[in-house]
Amino acid sequence: MADARDPRDGSTTADERGELFGVHIPELQLPGREYRAALEAARLGDDEVYLELGSGHGRGIVIAARDFGAESIGVEYLEDAIARTQRSAERAGVADRVRLMREDLRRIDPSGADVIHMHLGPAFHDVLAARLERLLAPHARVVAAGWRVPGWQPLPDALDRWDGGYVYRPADPRMQASWGARGQLADGTPTIEFRVNADLAELQPRLDGIPAAGRVEPDRTDAARGTAVLLALPPAGSGELTVWARCRAGRITQRGPSVATVSRRNGAP
Ligand SMILES: C[S@@+](CC[C@H](N)C(=O)[O-])C[C@H]1O[C@@H](n2cnc3c(N)ncnc32)[C@H](O)[C@@H]1O
Repeated sequence: MADARDPRDGSTTADERGELFGVHIPELQLPGREYRAALEAARLGDDEVYLELGSGHGRGIVIAARDFGAESIGVEYLEDAIARTQRSAERAGVADRVRLMREDLRRIDPSGADVIHMHLGPAFHDVLAARLERLLAPHARVVAAGWRVPGWQPLPDALDRWDGGYVYRPADPRMQASWGARGQLADGTPTIEFRVNADLAELQPRLDGIPAAGRVEPDRTDAARGTAVLLALPPAGSGELTVWARCRAGRITQRGPSVATVSRRNGAP
């Protein structure tokens, strides 16, 4: 599952190589009941692969293998934490269903996993999100405990307790939205295209909190590519563009590019 590793000749420390990314506090462990609730919400099956990014002392690894019957894979950088997890798995009688890797979790290929668990910190969830979106199997579910993944929409049965974790299905095409080309209307109003699933019911675009108008483009809308919307941006404004959309599959909050608009109306440059 791991990508090719950097050569390690022992002359540099993990910190110098930038591998100590994340919070290296395995003691910051989730309680067993939080793991169980999250893995139930994610519907982890006994024929599935559970991958925990930053598995710490291995509580989740053992619960996934023992209580859910899954093949359980832990990625962890700290040797002591791996040894401790191995001992727990042996004590629980599930060592044959547990695989532990001492790797940098940023280099792991998660494509073989059905349920991925991470409890790493807000910035790290954000950084990993793009890689997971790209590599995960379409049916995969991601549990992000402690912190949400910005820009992802939790599944309707997501847990709402702070530490239990939110369950996502990032590769679900119904929950994908994308940004298109910038342009302008005949009167100079700046525009940007936005595409979301075909069941769009409601849309609230905002540029730095200021409402923007959106109109569906029927000619460019179809079931395969979703609904195309042309957003007309406030004539003078700057900041992050966000769109809140309601679809049959759920609600989406999509963060957009940072934009600055300048009106060409009324003689402005
Ligand atoms: C906050 S603890 C969570 C432990 C466990 N998942 C839990 O929730 O109970 C984060 C774990 O991720 C590990 N970690 C952080 N960055 C890592 C990296 N780049 N590669 C591998 N493991 C990492 C840390 O050593 C630590 O054990």
